[in-house]
Amino acid sequence: MSLRVRRAVPPLESFREEVLRGLGRPRKELPCKYFYDATGSALFDQICELPEYYLTRVELGILRNHAAEMAELLGRRCLLIEYGSGSGVKTRLLLDRLVDATAYLPIDISPGPLLASARALAVAYPGLEILPVCADYTGEYPLPRPRTKPARRAVFFPGSTIGNFTPREAERFLKHVGQVCGRGGALLVGVDVAKGSQILERAYDDSQGVTARFNLNLLDRINRELGADFDLASFRHRAVYERTLGRVEMHLVSKRAQQVRVAGCHFSFRGGEAILTECSYKWDLAEFEQLAHGAGWRVR
Ligand code: TRP
Repeated sequence: MSLRVRRAVPPLESFREEVLRGLGRPRKELPCKYFYDATGSALFDQICELPEYYLTRVELGILRNHAAEMAELLGRRCLLIEYGSGSGVKTRLLLDRLVDATAYLPIDISPGPLLASARALAVAYPGLEILPVCADYTGEYPLPRPRTKPARRAVFFPGSTIGNFTPREAERFLKHVGQVCGRGGALLVGVDVAKGSQILERAYDDSQGVTARFNLNLLDRINRELGADFDLASFRHRAVYERTLGRVEMHLVSKRAQQVRVAGCHFSFRGGEAILTECSYKWDLAEFEQLAHGAGWRVR
């Protein structure tokens, strides 16, 4: 079976613009979707295997134990759309249980892992139409049409990735998914709940320093792709659970006062000044249910 990857990746100019805009803010920040270049995607796969990073292990366990029930709720002949599909390990647990799925449509910002996992799934599920789209799913992009009309469109969004949106962005995203799925559509979403700050902070700052390398790789990528001169050794990774905000924040902290040049612009850092690179919201399930209701979803 032939595999055609549709591409709508953000161009280099938007990467540059977003980086310059983020670093120009009074409280510096960088957009987290740019973590996932080839190096970042490989590091993220390592994060998922870390003893401290409970999320992947727990979610895989939930899927192993309940994939049959989930598949039953999704019903027969569904078109499965996955946002940020990555390596596709979780997808298989679901695909193994879905009855007569018409097509699988993975959307991911990283072309390498997207193509590799689409190829592997094409071999493992020879009858299934696979329609990979390489895009930033927070932006605008056209979706390919499957050959067979599905009974329902179902979106699969595991990994607590919805936690990387602010509550307001998450609501907007849920509404957007509702439009993509249409009436009667389904969403299977993995949401992480709040817990002790020590467990949370370790999950995002592991003892082997993989998460630190993942975070710092963003600066390395900016150096490589935008001609910047970040000195990686003078920034350090930090993860803090902000309980009142309900989120773990990932920072890159400048170890000293310094100047950095990015795409021809200069940015000054004070010693101890941080760049916010990602938030991971930990939800209370009742609050998440309320959010979903507000966005036009009913919880089952
Ligand atoms: N969706 C993942 C999460 O919030 C992403 C993630 C895991 C992440 N570890 C990270 C993002 C470290 C930045 C830094 O759990």
